[in-house]
Amino acid sequence: MFLNTMTELFDSVLKNSDMCNDKINEYTFQDICKIKDFLAREVDLVPKIGIICGTGLGSLAETITKAVIIDYKDIPNFPMSTVEGHKGKLIFGYINDVPVICMQGRFHYYEGYSLAQCVMPIRLMKLFGITHLIASNAAGGLNPNFKVGDIMLQKDHLNIMGFSGNNPLRGPNDTNFGPRFFAMTNAYDPTILEGVKDIVKQLGLEQIVQEGVYTCMGGPNYETTAELRALKILGVDAVGMSTVHEVTAARHCGIKCFAFSLITNICSTEYGVGTEANCEEVLEVGKSKEKILKILVTNIVSYIGNQD
Ligand code: HPA
Repeated sequence: MFLNTMTELFDSVLKNSDMCNDKINEYTFQDICKIKDFLAREVDLVPKIGIICGTGLGSLAETITKAVIIDYKDIPNFPMSTVEGHKGKLIFGYINDVPVICMQGRFHYYEGYSLAQCVMPIRLMKLFGITHLIASNAAGGLNPNFKVGDIMLQKDHLNIMGFSGNNPLRGPNDTNFGPRFFAMTNAYDPTILEGVKDIVKQLGLEQIVQEGVYTCMGGPNYETTAELRALKILGVDAVGMSTVHEVTAARHCGIKCFAFSLITNICSTEYGVGTEANCEEVLEVGKSKEKILKILVTNIVSYIGNQD
């Protein structure tokens, strides 16, 4: 009798513990279809490109014509943006006549969302018909050649969180989105990357545009010197808190990806040298680069708009 009661007690504790409550792939295909159906009542365009506006790209929304703007908080079963500088709006419309969906604000792991929750909007945008993703982020520069205000085109990423098995696609695979196993060798579309480099030349931005490998740390704290040293040894050029899982989910469902980092601070790997990273500096650099990022991204949208 006692044993039975104790077993039941342990069972219920375990069922309610975080460990057992680790709900994976929280949003099912049907859940995301429902969100899509809700939004589709408001919009009738088929977007080609999904854009995730990171720090410094918030004002891209001003360039969107025939815009339908929907607050995340008005969308049933949609997460909320809790971060300063992330507005929390979904915008449908046109940039240079190319149909787009634009996320003004993304979801981060450090806000408490699982990686699966963080990438739900990627899958939603796929259901709307996007074939391409443009993602931007703020990042600390590890490459000694980088300066504050530089723009790093992402040629690859290092999925540090994935090293310990934390992956947005962990859990049962839904083939409505993509296959169980898939390649990530060309995660950042090489053709688009080359096209963007041409645009950079045309705009005369070579001096401030770099290319490199990005990684996402879980945050919310910035990295220790020892962590930065380790990342540098691993070949990381810029470190942030997003994008890697978004691109992983996008590639899973066949979306072509392009991403870039705005280098908002320099990460020193020497003890006692350099300044500490801080949020104010990150936002300030973002603000100061808004204009140039808007010009760059609108040009990239036109370029992708003319691609298959
Ligand atoms: N580390 C992580 N994320 C960041 C940084 C950084 O130095 N700068 C902006 N986002």
